[in-house]
Amino acid sequence: MDPTTNLSEPMDIQETLERLRGEAPDRIERVESAEALEDLAAELTGKRSPIAAGRRSLGSAPPEQRRDLGRAINDVAAELDALIDARRSSLEAAEAADALAADRVDVTLPGRAQPRGTIHVIQQVMDEIVDIFVAMGYTAATGPEVETEFYNFTALNFPVAHPTRLESDTLYLDYGDDPEGVLLRTHTSPMQARYMEQHEPPVYLVVPGRVFRRDPVDSTHSPVFHQVEGLAVDSDITFGDLKGVLDHFAREFLGPDITTKFIPHHFPFTEPSAEMHVYAHGRWMELIGCGMVHPAVFEAVGYDPNDVTGFAFGMGADRLAMVRHGITDLRHLFDPDRRILEQYR
Ligand code: DAH
Repeated sequence: MDPTTNLSEPMDIQETLERLRGEAPDRIERVESAEALEDLAAELTGKRSPIAAGRRSLGSAPPEQRRDLGRAINDVAAELDALIDARRSSLEAAEAADALAADRVDVTLPGRAQPRGTIHVIQQVMDEIVDIFVAMGYTAATGPEVETEFYNFTALNFPVAHPTRLESDTLYLDYGDDPEGVLLRTHTSPMQARYMEQHEPPVYLVVPGRVFRRDPVDSTHSPVFHQVEGLAVDSDITFGDLKGVLDHFAREFLGPDITTKFIPHHFPFTEPSAEMHVYAHGRWMELIGCGMVHPAVFEAVGYDPNDVTGFAFGMGADRLAMVRHGITDLRHLFDPDRRILEQYR
């Protein structure tokens, strides 16, 4: 029916209401979407619906019939509204259920694996070295990578004209106002002086860290490499203690059957000085620089050399990683190729 039909006769209104009552429930029930339902609701009960037209025409109906007609219109309108509301609820519930079903996650599907990170082999080796000394009662500490010439050289008894102070050997920074100069530390030894300045003896210290030298890259050199420094200071430390501690370290790190030997050497901050060599992979290798702390170092940090003795040592963690894993070229350790690094998880 044309919804704009002018229902001026009561009979027309009654008839229209009957027809609506007859066909609307089925139409409402068959609607399949919320949108179509709103269109149908507008058609059946909206401003341009037969219901609205019926209400408008009440004024021209015979007065004695108006009341009944009005009530009949309202009854049908209420019935239709109730049916539409019920259908709206069930459509909304069905749509929500569909959305949930579409979003459902199958928790039994295999996940997408993330590539697993790992601790770099040099860091692993440094951690392991530190652990061996911590187990002997040493404390671990780290120091600044940017150092003053005082801690890097002067406090460690390097003479003013020592060749390692030259710009051809050491990376100086244009930074700060230290009268002697600021540089990237060439070794972890400056932490000996820094630590003793801040702590009273006894001292049992290990210092892992990154160090820098003006070396071109080749199979055994890199301008950035890693060391672990050690320092033991007490009232009666002897060279025998030094040998015992470093022997123990070598056995812990490389295995109980490892052979070591100590060869005389020179470092400005130790006297006497030595190198510890180990026999590994069929040859002798220099592994650790060491010696008894020079009295001049004790004096530089405010210790009385008559009260204390001590030993110090320094080892290259990159080289120890190479010895440990049979790596023949240092550059492999800085190669980002995961096939190399994955071997040392
Ligand atoms: N600092 C030295 C270097 O970088 C290594 C070293 C040698 C450290 C002897 C020490 C030591 O503590 O006693 O070559």
